[in-house]
Amino acid sequence: MSMNIAIDGPAGAGKSTIAKRLAKKLGFIYVDTGAMYRAMAYYFLQHNIDAKDENAIAAACPDVDVTITYENGEQQVLLNGENVNGVIRNEEVGNMASSTSVYPVVRKKLVELQRQLAKSADVIMDGRDIGTCVLPDAQVKIYLTASSATRAKRRYDELTEKGVSCDLAEIEKDIIDRDYRDMHRETSPLRQAEDAVLVDSSEMNIDEVVDAIYQVYSEAR
Ligand code: C5P
Repeated sequence: MSMNIAIDGPAGAGKSTIAKRLAKKLGFIYVDTGAMYRAMAYYFLQHNIDAKDENAIAAACPDVDVTITYENGEQQVLLNGENVNGVIRNEEVGNMASSTSVYPVVRKKLVELQRQLAKSADVIMDGRDIGTCVLPDAQVKIYLTASSATRAKRRYDELTEKGVSCDLAEIEKDIIDRDYRDMHRETSPLRQAEDAVLVDSSEMNIDEVVDAIYQVYSEAR
């Protein structure tokens, strides 16, 4: 049976950075489920589909094919055969993903894909509903969080480093709005699974978080 590690938590808690490091350390495959919701959101944006129009979203879903491949160990998301990795990591797509991931028709498609990936290999999968819905039997479940101020500051530093000008207060507001939507939607809201270990990274650096999760994994193995 494959070993599955589920990492859930709000936007900007450092899930992908931590999961990537751990995957390398353990020789696991890293599965970024947010990228799949972003790929679908990108499709809806490209086709001018209104995020509030559930019927239009449902009608478009059969035309959207999301698949995953790996290049040098890095996850690549293919949207109808086209690699969209380079165009989904921005606030516009992130906000659209947050708005359209509320629909069961969107989630169903991606949850099936995620379960298939976890069945065939040892994976570290991050997202919002991995421990609660996608992989309820994952041997290790982590709920990784940090204060909204800490998460906003990290995002601000990341963007500033890339030369993107941005506003810290606006970033924090976006993060708070996104958390609210993710936590209050009807289908698979973001919450800590009962058997998940809580890790608050507000006062921790990356190595400390990786070590803390590695510890949980070692005990579960
Ligand atoms: O993690 P990331 O910011 O890339 O995710 C984008 C959006 O996709 C989230 O705000 C959330 O609404 C949605 N998402 C989700 N379930 C997941 C992963 C992401 O609903 N498992």
